[in-house]
Amino acid sequence: MKHCKTLFVAAALSAVATVGIVTSCNPAPEGSDPRVEKLLRKMTLEEKVGQTVLFTSDWTVTGPSMRQGYIDDIRSGRCGNIFNAYTADYTRKLQEIAVNETRLGIPLLFGYDVIHGFRTIFPINLGMACTWDMDAITRSAQIAAREASAAGLHWTYSPMCDICVEPRWGRISEGAGEDPYLGSAIAAAMTKGYQGSDLSADNTLLACVKHYAAYGAPQAGRDYNTVDMSERWLREFYLPPYKAAVDAGALSVMASFNELDGVPATANAHLLQDILRDEWGFRGFVVTDYTGINEMVCHGYAADEKDAGRLAMNAGIDMDMQSAAYFNYLVDQVRSGEVKESTLDEAVRRILNVKAALGLFDDPYRYCSPEREASQTLTAQNKAEARSIAAQSMVLLKNDGVLPLRKGARTAVIGALAASKDDLLGSWRGAGEVQAVPATIADAIREVTPAVYAEGCKETGDDRSGFGAALAAARSADQIVLVIGEDCQWTGEAASRTSINIPGVQSELLEKLAATGKPLAVVLLNGRPLDLSAVSAAAGALLEAWYPGTMGGYAVADVLFGDVNPSGKLCVTFPRNLGQVPIYHYAKNTGRPYVHPEAKYESRYLDCPNEPLYAFGHGLSYTTFSYSDITLSAASFGAGDTLQASVTVTNTGGRTGTETVQMYIRDLVGSVTRPVRQLKGFERVTLAPGESKQLTFDINPETISFWRADMTWGPEAGGFKVFIGGSSDNVKEAEFSYE
Ligand code: NOJ
Repeated sequence: MKHCKTLFVAAALSAVATVGIVTSCNPAPEGSDPRVEKLLRKMTLEEKVGQTVLFTSDWTVTGPSMRQGYIDDIRSGRCGNIFNAYTADYTRKLQEIAVNETRLGIPLLFGYDVIHGFRTIFPINLGMACTWDMDAITRSAQIAAREASAAGLHWTYSPMCDICVEPRWGRISEGAGEDPYLGSAIAAAMTKGYQGSDLSADNTLLACVKHYAAYGAPQAGRDYNTVDMSERWLREFYLPPYKAAVDAGALSVMASFNELDGVPATANAHLLQDILRDEWGFRGFVVTDYTGINEMVCHGYAADEKDAGRLAMNAGIDMDMQSAAYFNYLVDQVRSGEVKESTLDEAVRRILNVKAALGLFDDPYRYCSPEREASQTLTAQNKAEARSIAAQSMVLLKNDGVLPLRKGARTAVIGALAASKDDLLGSWRGAGEVQAVPATIADAIREVTPAVYAEGCKETGDDRSGFGAALAAARSADQIVLVIGEDCQWTGEAASRTSINIPGVQSELLEKLAATGKPLAVVLLNGRPLDLSAVSAAAGALLEAWYPGTMGGYAVADVLFGDVNPSGKLCVTFPRNLGQVPIYHYAKNTGRPYVHPEAKYESRYLDCPNEPLYAFGHGLSYTTFSYSDITLSAASFGAGDTLQASVTVTNTGGRTGTETVQMYIRDLVGSVTRPVRQLKGFERVTLAPGESKQLTFDINPETISFWRADMTWGPEAGGFKVFIGGSSDNVKEAEFSYE
């Protein structure tokens, strides 16, 4: 039996209406599933501990070490959960061992990193966030869930909710960028897509909110590095997306590798108990990240692995991914009283209730379906959706009129990345395979127009021997497409960089191609904000395509040749150079804001403007939009009221286009200082040439609430500004007050 109920979620599922309804499955709101309680009464200590153990199969390696012999551990009842095993046939084989050969026949839970698609790969998450399209993001998660669940999987390690303002960190590619409001909307949309309205359905997946918490803030951008910040900044900037996913019904959470305020997240009772369970009311289970328990020895927080296991269990970690600390020591620790049996029981209860909610006690093989696996994987419909979302995720950073390119014109396509299928998939591509990619960017362009390809140079290294052929190709063509960026394995986990330059000699090649004077469009494949100052100066047009997924080659061609009008908006700021980092729109004003051009004692750089190269929210279209001034429904409002801010947006160009209209607010005086721009609403609007539409955003007390000086959440009376526009640096503004 499963307990489902509908929750009202104060997460931004759509921009203007900031309160949405999602159906959430909660395993134990009124108590535990009776079958779980019955099992708990029968289970030996060893069997209980087995349910807290998660081991990887030998199919995919996603971490540093591996325990051999997982099949024997399943058979002995000492491992109740497996990750990195998939396909209907293989999961059935393992499930049969658990169900038929263990004393209690408790089904296994199968997890996997389904991060931006399972077999049909969507753009990397940073790109997906640039769609600002919650419906599209939900649909991509639904497709991923459909494909993965048919392959026997129950559980995805997604959504990744780590806010990040650190482009050196390789995992910025896996998240939704720098903004807590947009990040929260996306976290909720993905959770809704994976879990659907019925977690026990055979085509939905259990979501896992990760990496809790603040993993996206490692010092100096080095993966796994120390994280430290004030409680206020943690709550205001980093926690909202995790909470939004929990509010949307996610029933598992993954603790992060990092320490926070000196305590590893894996044993951080403040995060796991005070905030997650007591404040947010989370009722699912918490899993560690890969060997997170063992790593507490290296952190200098636990004397040995045994001690680390005790600390983790007592802090609220229900499941141990891959450390084997629970596997090796927990039975003895319960016997000796170091861990209370009731603590272990509670962990097992949470895990078993999620298994019940997934329907595994009704039918342990519900998710293993060779028929569905064959019929629902990489379907024409899934691929069409991937192509359209990929095109939507691309951000037109600059265009001096080169784009859209002319169909029929001779086109030189240059760059190693233009001929790569592998890089289109990005990192964390799940079970996505290169063989499923139908076309590279060069292939796709060739289908549209006469084209010649030359590699020019690789993404890395200093080999310039291909420059000559590339220049010859460029000179013989009417227009040039240069595809440059990063090897996709330079992004993702353990892929931090100390430079955000375009690697190798790619920029040099660009300079030479630009010197031909031919119309030149640069397409970027990368997973982090890069220093594009020189690239932007040299290229006629700049299209940020991220790693666009299985159908990415076609999607790039769709945008380049104008079959799709670009509509992506940056979910992260692009600095002028690394020295500006961290740079993000949610910044404070400081006591000495830089306002006088020649001033010395103001907050500025001597050698670089303060402004980024491309601001959060920026993104061009092949048409143009104009904004009216803002009209407010009143000059002030109070508790229980809603103020409305409206603008009229007009398509002033010659093509139908989609604009993401963004609303920001600023609280002018607070009991603690407030950011100059805080995103508080957005809406996508599609307009035909000449068409106008009035958009209205609600501003209520929740919109202007924050963690006040006394650490209570709420609004403060006083003056505010509201900004509305098509980018954080291009807005109309008006003032109002809250009384
Ligand atoms: C480590 C990564 O940090 C996490 O995101 C992932 O889900 C696990 N490995 C499992 O592969």
